[in-house]
Amino acid sequence: MSYRASLEVSGRRVVCATGDAQALRTITGLLAEGALVHVVAPEVATTVRDLADRGLLTWVPHAFAPADLMRAALVVAPAEDDSARSAAAEFGVPLLVVDRDSDTAASAAAGGDGPGRGEVILVGGGPGDPGLLTVAGLEALRQADVVVTDRLAPLAALEETRPGVEIIDVSKIPRGEFTPQEQINAILIEHAQAGRRVVRLKGGDSFVFGRGGEEWEACAAAGLPVRVIPGVSSAIAAPALAGIPLTHRTMTQGFAVVSGHLPPGDPGSTLDWSALARAGVTLVILMGVATLPAITEHLQAEGLSRETPAVTIADAGLPSQRTVRGQLADIAEQTRIAGIKPPAVTVIGEVAGFRVDRG
Ligand SMILES: C[S@@+](CC[C@H](N)C(=O)[O-])C[C@H]1O[C@@H](n2cnc3c(N)ncnc32)[C@H](O)[C@@H]1O
Repeated sequence: MSYRASLEVSGRRVVCATGDAQALRTITGLLAEGALVHVVAPEVATTVRDLADRGLLTWVPHAFAPADLMRAALVVAPAEDDSARSAAAEFGVPLLVVDRDSDTAASAAAGGDGPGRGEVILVGGGPGDPGLLTVAGLEALRQADVVVTDRLAPLAALEETRPGVEIIDVSKIPRGEFTPQEQINAILIEHAQAGRRVVRLKGGDSFVFGRGGEEWEACAAAGLPVRVIPGVSSAIAAPALAGIPLTHRTMTQGFAVVSGHLPPGDPGSTLDWSALARAGVTLVILMGVATLPAITEHLQAEGLSRETPAVTIADAGLPSQRTVRGQLADIAEQTRIAGIKPPAVTVIGEVAGFRVDRG
């Protein structure tokens, strides 16, 4: 017999004997509660690997062994993992079983709606804090049969999905592991054609460097209904969370959001960086951690003052949020010294020096 019980996990070690996509819902919920999550599994979902790389949890790539339970306040394991279950019982560590009943939900939805009546909902999830997911986005998530998610989506909100939901991790790691876009499109189409309600959950807004347009086109070409739920882009949320207004009546009358993925001068770049240096607007650079030295050098060479305030905000909206302040001349170096890794947004312009005098 089992009972519903609550357990304080904040600041305590929780051992997860699985790190696959289906466990994401539990792992991210535990992280949101402040647990020190330690994943023990030979293979993990890309998002779990990324969380480990960013120091937000620890992961050891081997099969679970009872010794892993040392100092654990809780162990998380799939129902079929006998080894973790018996070790938990032997050492008296509470056990949380990961819900894996996805087939039931998926086939129930397929039977209920009938093939071909599924839909795809492109949900912009905001910068990572589930509190910044819109009410409409949350409602779509709660009703989803399948959630196709990215590493920058508000992962803690996955806890709001219903039991039995199928979670598919298609994260792209900058300059690393990724699921090709064609494969992501095919996943969306396959599940929706089987009559399922598919939520494509993204970080920020799906149409701001989110490839939402391509996904929409692919689903529409397959004859599927698509709904779009906008999200709060990190381009706006990250500066705001760091206390920086992108416009200010006395400082600037506009802002430009650009990708820093390709540096100035790259043959593939479509941006006129020289014009941006002279535009008199706040510059908001996404995906620019690696190229920041080249970008800031070019902007200075094109006449933007080396003393222009600049700030880099990493992991905006997450407990790990960090802000590095500087000027155009040194923000790339300051960002490097601080060990900032993506995701981060850099803001360049007078507003980056904004501080409210709190008296
Ligand atoms: C592929 S783009 C996706 C942008 C997303 N669709 C949006 O509207 O925010 C990924 C980039 O967004 C930015 N980003 C996303 N989430 C972030 C966060 N929580 N904090 C800082 N930057 C973030 C980073 O520049 C990251 O490299």
